[in-house]
Amino acid sequence: MQIDVILGLQWGDEGKGKIVDYLANDYHIVARFQGGPNAGHTLKFGGNKYVLHTVPSGIFRPGLVNLIGNGVVLDPIIFQRELRALEQAQVEFKSRLLVSRKAHLILPTHRWLDAASEAHKGKAKIGSTLKGIGPTYMDKTGRNGLRVGDISLPGFRDLYESLKTKHLDLLKIYTPIDFDLAGEEKAWFESLDTLRTLPFVDCEYYLNDALRQKKRVLAEGAQGSMLDIDFGTYPFVTSSNTITAGVCTGLGIAPQQIGRVIGITKAYCTRVGSGPFPTELDNPIGEKLRQEGMEFGSTTGRPRRCGWIDLPQLKYTNILNGTTELCMTKIDVLNSFAEIAAATQYQYDGREQDQLPYDLCSTSIEPVLRHFEGWQCSLDHVQHFDQLPRQARLFLEAIEQYLGIPVKMVSTGPEREKLIVR
Ligand code: GDP
Ligand code: IMO
Ligand code: MG
Repeated sequence: MQIDVILGLQWGDEGKGKIVDYLANDYHIVARFQGGPNAGHTLKFGGNKYVLHTVPSGIFRPGLVNLIGNGVVLDPIIFQRELRALEQAQVEFKSRLLVSRKAHLILPTHRWLDAASEAHKGKAKIGSTLKGIGPTYMDKTGRNGLRVGDISLPGFRDLYESLKTKHLDLLKIYTPIDFDLAGEEKAWFESLDTLRTLPFVDCEYYLNDALRQKKRVLAEGAQGSMLDIDFGTYPFVTSSNTITAGVCTGLGIAPQQIGRVIGITKAYCTRVGSGPFPTELDNPIGEKLRQEGMEFGSTTGRPRRCGWIDLPQLKYTNILNGTTELCMTKIDVLNSFAEIAAATQYQYDGREQDQLPYDLCSTSIEPVLRHFEGWQCSLDHVQHFDQLPRQARLFLEAIEQYLGIPVKMVSTGPEREKLIVR
């Protein structure tokens, strides 16, 4: 068997959680492969809304195994809070939520370092979610990190103290900021007891065995391809590989075992935090997109920046991911627009181009827009692709044609059932 992948093609918040939850019933296992609690994946069904940060979005499907892979960075305090919310929602998970021993732990001092580093950057700040993601991945690649499996070692407390001491030394280079280390540390050690109640696995063995046994596995991406550490709008990115390649390193899967790659894009585009965004609309149209799309962060509540869909950008992330099919979310957000637009080229260096420049941060680029007529009606009744208004179909078909990849799913609302599968 091959492993299918769902990931975001833009700057995150494309609606990955909703689509993973929808498709999960076709799978035996859903696995997160990178990122950490910087993610906020929203699921809506049965009149309730759930936001998941660490737990994979297949958890609400009874019997399904959910796995947190080695590529993930895990904050046990946030994780414990998520598990309590699941208990309150009467979701049974104890035997079917597995954690890779090789996933790295976010320490309280990682969060402190994240906050101090961002404060130090001033105007140049990344706009991090301040969950300690950057410092934790720095310790991973610097070979100093602590992993989930380490909490079973007799010398774990010493390992913790040694890393904490290093962090306290590092913090001296920054302007001091308030942080209740004693309180956070107490909560952190208490939360490890909750973590210990879950099964730990060597996910590379677990998943490859599962694939051999013909189990169907879905990998759930976090963030978006434009936030990828190598290919995103560096330095305004996250600290992991968010693209398909991250599935291999974040779960222990060989490249030839990747099957479908379902790339998710909104019908427009958003980004939260700092950094370049070529099609951003810092005007009433952008504000309308924000209000209609309720574009406020699932993790931090920050208003998201909004703009038109950017086709050269999507072409770029499709190359990186080997996207085999597209899913377009939030098309309903455009319902009341008389006219919508999509960037088809960029104007920079004196000519029109369809490739992203080396450094979007220092190149002034103007998107070249193609305009489309809006449909100006509700899509609530639409259950089949053919029932979409003509204008919406033309918009979707133009995007398919430009990108050369079929749009296999269209999401028309936040609720689980609001999805057209072609
Ligand atoms: P994720 O991080 O990619 O899982 O996305 P988020 O959950 O952070 O943000 C997506 C937001 O859009 C959430 O509030 C979803 O409930 C909502 N959403 C998802 N799909 C649709 C859709 O098709 N239409 C509308 N209006 N909202 C949607
Ligand atoms: P999901 O999975 C949108 C952004 C932050 C910031 C940058 C770095 O919900 O799509 P970090 O905390 O990783 O150091 O922040 O990346 N960012 C996200 N933006 N959705 C996310 O996750 C994000 N995770 C991180 O806003 O600009
Ligand atoms: Mg999100």
